[in-house]
Amino acid sequence: MTDKIAYSRHDDIVVLRIQNPPVNALSQAVRQGLADGMDRAEAEDGVRAVMIVGEGRAFIAGADITEFGKPPMEPFLPDLCNRIEASPLLVVASMHGVSLGGGLEVALSAHYRIAQPSARVGLPEVHLGLIPGAGGTQRLPRLIGVEPALDAITTGRHIKAPQALEMGIVDRVEEGDPQEVGLAYVRELLDSGAERRPICEMPAPAPIDWDAAYEVTLKKGRGQISPAEAVRAVQAGVEKPFEEGMKAERRIFSELMNTDQRQGMIHAFFSERAVSNLPELKGVEPRELKAIGVIGGGTMGAGIATAALLSGSSVVLIEMKEEAAKAAHERISGNLQGALKRGKIDQAKFDHLTGTALTVSTEYDSLSDVDLVVEAVFEDMDVKKQVFGKLDAVCKPGCVLASNTSYLDVNEIAASTKRPEDVIGLHFFSPAHVMKLLEVVVADKTAKDVVATGFALGKALGKISVRAGVCDGFIGNRILATYRTAADHMVLDGASPYKIDAALEKFGFAMGPFAVADLAGLDIGWATRKRKAATRHPEERVPTYIDRLCEQGHFGQKTGQGYYLYEKGKRGGTPNPEITRLIEEEQKERGITPREFTEAEIVRRYMCAMVNEAAKVLEEGIAKRPLDIDMTLLFGYGFPRYWGGPMKWADIQGLPNVLAAIEGFAEKDPWFWKPAPLLVDLVKTNRTFDDLNKEAAK
Ligand code: CAA
Repeated sequence: MTDKIAYSRHDDIVVLRIQNPPVNALSQAVRQGLADGMDRAEAEDGVRAVMIVGEGRAFIAGADITEFGKPPMEPFLPDLCNRIEASPLLVVASMHGVSLGGGLEVALSAHYRIAQPSARVGLPEVHLGLIPGAGGTQRLPRLIGVEPALDAITTGRHIKAPQALEMGIVDRVEEGDPQEVGLAYVRELLDSGAERRPICEMPAPAPIDWDAAYEVTLKKGRGQISPAEAVRAVQAGVEKPFEEGMKAERRIFSELMNTDQRQGMIHAFFSERAVSNLPELKGVEPRELKAIGVIGGGTMGAGIATAALLSGSSVVLIEMKEEAAKAAHERISGNLQGALKRGKIDQAKFDHLTGTALTVSTEYDSLSDVDLVVEAVFEDMDVKKQVFGKLDAVCKPGCVLASNTSYLDVNEIAASTKRPEDVIGLHFFSPAHVMKLLEVVVADKTAKDVVATGFALGKALGKISVRAGVCDGFIGNRILATYRTAADHMVLDGASPYKIDAALEKFGFAMGPFAVADLAGLDIGWATRKRKAATRHPEERVPTYIDRLCEQGHFGQKTGQGYYLYEKGKRGGTPNPEITRLIEEEQKERGITPREFTEAEIVRRYMCAMVNEAAKVLEEGIAKRPLDIDMTLLFGYGFPRYWGGPMKWADIQGLPNVLAAIEGFAEKDPWFWKPAPLLVDLVKTNRTFDDLNKEAAK
């Protein structure tokens, strides 16, 4: 026995209690302990049943992800599951917390399952670029049928115990101490003469149209391969004997283990957890956060207020005039109505959030008691300074003063107050109650506990918070500006916006850059181009065709015309011939002969521009770690999760290859394609971005 499993005898029942904090992952020692425990129970006289239970917060959260990519160690999980299932003893799993992946597979190899009402089960391997690898694709369909099993496996969703009971995944749901209710259940089973019930002996379920299911799943996954491959594994289990199905599952699992997508998704899993774990904040306590102030009740302010209300804070929102205040209240109510419709809150909660919890006022004095205030007014330095002057006058000492600016200099805003140490940037993404990303922008004088408070707010709001330094656009928008420019250059040189969008959507982006621009509103980019025109370097190539469209009053989706034409009531748009005409006109004016771009070249240029700028952002300390950039792009910019983020993508391509591509592009346009010195240095020293992540974690 290993020390990860506590073995205890309760008359004729043996309990194997898993003790591997924090989440009882199935490390080698746990697998070995379970196998040894089964051997011992079977060898002892008078034992009739084995119950497996977890200690701490979960039954089992799955295979130990930290072992992935390393040489596999015996006993292998599929063998352990088969061994448990084949036991002549009655085997029962008593589940609490989560039973995920290998955890559910262990439970499925038991003959009966009892769960706490609060327990959740699931096969989330697709989120790691894998499929269940220890019989999940074979046993679950036999137990509950192909369609519900495929839904669970291809979405990887967590299923709450009451639903799992309805679906037939668990046999009983009962509240109490997992060991005690589990033992009582085993006793009941033994007394009633219940027989062993190995799922592998159950008949194969009815088949479905496998090719159709494969295609639908592939399409839904936007290029992610593991969910579609799971369909093939289930198919094998239905069409072939159980052992053959297990072999097919193992083969597919092993193949996926060697894919870039698996690497990318596991990087995303760990980075998502590491991103808010900042060495500089160790031991720093955040300030109290009970009441939140929001300045401005437009889409952004209302979204921030909605998110804060849903997190349990009270909110004071300030608007300039009564009419605007009324509109802001309506916007927030509308957002909360959505939460009500989706069952996230009930009517009583809705009434509370739109009533006592929310104050909408035209008086700054109403902010005197708030702990943190986020300004979300017009993006103009003078306007922001005026607002911060007023906040400085009315907010209590220690109140955190935050700006939601997307570009402006937070140092300058901070300097306009008498308390720059309390000032921070909190850059939300619209709609703020939906989008997961929050850039916590740390200015030169921001106090550490104010930074910690920014992260605490992000956590309370369910956001992925990323630390960013001050520069034009911080991490995300600064990098976006560069890769968007690369896309604009490709348009000037001959790739249509539609071909670029299609290539990048195929790469895995939720939307291509031109469809995104239409959604965000073309007036935003137009205003930025005008703002930057005076300081623009003469060698900078900036297209003007899109300004011509804006001059005609077309700003994308909201006006019905942009890169695409939109029809009311229809999703998506069709290419706008006017755009094609304007591009051709500009190409003629500039004397450009348009050339062909392959999809691969489009992706390469776009991604290399992203990585190169990201390396500069890192070098300047705007982002502290490559993983901060990866998470920014993943959660704020629709970057495909299965690539892990741009820095992980670059590591997977090999940094020498990325640098060589950039140097190649620089031959024609040395002004735009200046290799980032950090990238050059990493290549020279044979290091990766991930090495920088590891160095930062030390
Ligand atoms: N292996 C190793 N470590 C794990 C782990 C796993 N399967 N699951 C969680 N952890 C670690 C986390 O990295 C984290 O570590 P740090 O504290 O050092 O950051 C710690 O456990 C706690 O995790 P969270 O911070 O995520 O805690 P949470 O309460 O928010 O969530 C959870 C808990 C729901 C279990 C979540 O961690 C989770 O979803 N884990 C992954 C589950 C999963 O994907 N299982 C399938 C694994 S693949 C598999 O099993 C293959 C197969 O078929 C053989």
